[in-house]
Amino acid sequence: MLTKETVAKCLETVIVPAAARTIVGLNLIRDIEIDNGKVTVKLAKTALNEGTQKWIEEKIIEAVQRTEKDVKITVAYIEAIPADLNEIGNVIAIMSGKGGVGKSLVAGLVAISLNRLGKTAGILDADITGPSIPKMFGINGSPGGSESGILPVSSKSGIEMMSINLLLPSEEEAVIWRGPLIGRAITQFWEEVLWGKLDYLIVDLPPGTADAPLTVMQTLPVSGVIVVYTPQDLTTMIVKKAVRMAQQMNKPILGVVENMSYLYVEEIEKKIELFGKSQGEEMAKAANAPLLGQLPIDPNLAKLCDAGAIEGYDSEFIDNVGKAIITAIEK
Ligand SMILES: Nc1ncnc2c1ncn2[C@@H]1O[C@H](COP(=O)(O)OP(=O)(O)O)[C@@H](O)[C@H]1O
Ligand SMILES: [Mg+2]
Repeated sequence: MLTKETVAKCLETVIVPAAARTIVGLNLIRDIEIDNGKVTVKLAKTALNEGTQKWIEEKIIEAVQRTEKDVKITVAYIEAIPADLNEIGNVIAIMSGKGGVGKSLVAGLVAISLNRLGKTAGILDADITGPSIPKMFGINGSPGGSESGILPVSSKSGIEMMSINLLLPSEEEAVIWRGPLIGRAITQFWEEVLWGKLDYLIVDLPPGTADAPLTVMQTLPVSGVIVVYTPQDLTTMIVKKAVRMAQQMNKPILGVVENMSYLYVEEIEKKIELFGKSQGEEMAKAANAPLLGQLPIDPNLAKLCDAGAIEGYDSEFIDNVGKAIITAIEK
C-alpha cells in the first residue's frame, strides 16, 4: 500500500534539470493525495518552462512506479510565485566599511564552509556594479526559468547563486546603472528567484556604508550581519560606522572577520603581520560581537579565485567559520 510518506520519498529523487536540484529542495511539491489507490501530486510550476514540466511529470511517474508498478499517478501543476515557495532559514549580509577588503571572498568562503557542514547555502550577489561571485566559482552559465520565476545557478558543490553577471550577455559587460534600477535588480533577486529551501542565504553587499548597502538591508529580511575588515584599517572607525548602520536598521551583528590578517611563510615557519598588528580583539569589542575568523593572505587562494576554483580551497578558516556563525546565530 502506498502512503504519502513513500510517495514523498520517491519524489526526492526527481531533479529539475536546469537547477541541478530536486523538486523537494526547490519546494515545488504543494500536496500529495492518495484516493482509492490513485496518486495525485500537486506541483507548483514556478520557473519551469513547458518542456521541463513534461519532463518532470514523466520522472515523477517513473519514480513512484519504481516503488509500486501499476499505480496511477496524476501530476497537477498549479501557479505560484517564488515568494510562496522560498523557505530561507537565515539571510546573512556580508558588509565592509570600504571596497577591496575581501568581502566577496569571505561571502564565498562562508557559503562553502556552511555547505561543507551539510547546510544548504546560496549566495545573492547584491554588488550589482561590481559582481564577482560567479567568477570565483567558475560559473558562467545563464540561469534557467520561465515567466513565473528564475532558477539560481548551482556551483560544483551545490551552492545556489544569483548575480547580475549571470544575466548579462558577456562577463566583461560593465554595469552602469543608477540607484533605483540597482534597487529593483536586488528586489528581483529576492522576489523572483526560486531559491526553494535553503538553510542560509549569504548576501554579498555593495561596499561601504552608503545608499546601496542600505537599500539592500531594507529590501531583504536580513537576520544578521558579518563585518569584514583588514588590519590596514588603522582605526576602528570604519567598523564602528558599519556597526552603527546595522544598529540603525535593527540588524544584529553576528561577528567580524579579519582578512589579510597575516602572511604565513613556510620556509621560516612564521606568521608575518604584513599590514600591522591584528585588531581582532578591538574590532570584536567595537562590534560587540565575536571575531568569527582570521583569514591570512594566501597566494594560493588568490590563484584559486582567479581560476574559478574557490571550492577547492582548504584551510583552518573554512573549517571553523561556519561553526562560529552557527554558534553566533543560535546565541
Ligand atoms: N586573504 C586573501 N588572500 C589572497 N588574496 C585575497 C585575499 N583577500 C582578498 N584577496 C584578493 O583580493 C581581491 C579583492 O577581493 P574581493 O573579495 O573581491 O574584495 P571586495 O569584495 O571587498 O571588493 C580578489 O582578487 C581576491 O582574490
Ligand atoms: Mg566584492
